[in-house]
Amino acid sequence: MPRTVIAAKFGDIEDLEVVDLPVAEPLHGHVRLRVMAAAVNPADLKQLRGMFGGSTFPLRLGSEVSGVVAAVGPDAVGPAGPLSVGDEVIGYPVRGGFAEQLIVKASSVLPKPASLGWGEAAGLLLGAVTAFHLLEAVAVARGDHVIVHGASGSVGLAAVQLARARGAKVIGTVSASHVDDMRALGAVPVLYGPGLEERLRALLPGGADAALDTVGTDEALDASVALVADRQRIATIAGFARAAELGIRLLGSGPGADPGTELRNGARLDMLQLAADGRLVGPPVIAFPLEHVRQAMALVASGHAGGKVVILP
Ligand SMILES: NC(=O)c1ccc[n+]([C@@H]2O[C@H](COP(=O)([O-])OP(=O)(O)OC[C@H]3O[C@@H](n4cnc5c(N)ncnc54)[C@H](OP(=O)(O)O)[C@@H]3O)[C@@H](O)[C@H]2O)c1
Repeated sequence: MPRTVIAAKFGDIEDLEVVDLPVAEPLHGHVRLRVMAAAVNPADLKQLRGMFGGSTFPLRLGSEVSGVVAAVGPDAVGPAGPLSVGDEVIGYPVRGGFAEQLIVKASSVLPKPASLGWGEAAGLLLGAVTAFHLLEAVAVARGDHVIVHGASGSVGLAAVQLARARGAKVIGTVSASHVDDMRALGAVPVLYGPGLEERLRALLPGGADAALDTVGTDEALDASVALVADRQRIATIAGFARAAELGIRLLGSGPGADPGTELRNGARLDMLQLAADGRLVGPPVIAFPLEHVRQAMALVASGHAGGKVVILP
């Protein structure tokens, strides 16, 4: 029987177990995937900790995977066309991706660009479509000065590249280890930490046009409202507690947030094309075997993984 990661209840990393679970045959509009890699995201940790509320138990984590179609139900047509056994694909969004096998809706199954490895492919879309949503929400355009907080993370790195592709001038907040990466992407690196607002002000004496926050700290939000005059051009995906108080845009799945589901799903094929063309590159992959799921989750929980953590079943 395929191995699957579960948690019997809301809890923390030590509550994760690897168990054998049967997998059904795919019904109408579904396929069964043999998972090759599953990305680990901060959202998996939040789901495990019960921060997203209602769920079915045992909990099954993992919302993005790469893999091979192993069985096809009737009328299984993905966003790029009919699906067949043997197709190399990306599944996003999915539920329970930390598993050897998985039943998913065909509407979540897209062709894997041949140039991407399994790990890169698994970890691409959640960050990319979230970044796209951020850019759309604040209407990033050519010539804008845009601050990206958390610019070396999965979402931040995609936001930097997408904003540069639109002709924006990007200032990315990073730790010292990612300064060169920012420069390589044509963005201006600024170290996060005490004094951030002053460092940004020195680079942007006239302020910035927009700010994209992927961190949610007071430091990032306070600097954003100090530098950007129009609060509708500040968007956060992480500062849930303060977004309403500050009157800035809040994106994602949470009370008062714009989930942007249609926009995000509609952007998936374009993001894959950019990645296939080498114009959208994710963070370096850090891979763990399925049995080491707790170590993989702990690295993501550190907030400084230094790359995209993936599980290889
Ligand atoms: N609302 C939504 O729809 C949505 C969607 C996706 C993600 N998210 C949330 O967005 C956040 C980021 O997700 P992700 O997948 O991009 O995470 P990630 O890949 O783990 O990246 C986190 C980044 O934050 C940086 N960082 C850590 N502390 C920082 C600080 N104090 N100031 C500035 N940067 C800091 C890290 O840089 P260093 O390693 O260099 O320190 C790292 O590059 C998470 O909270 C996630 O749950 C929300």
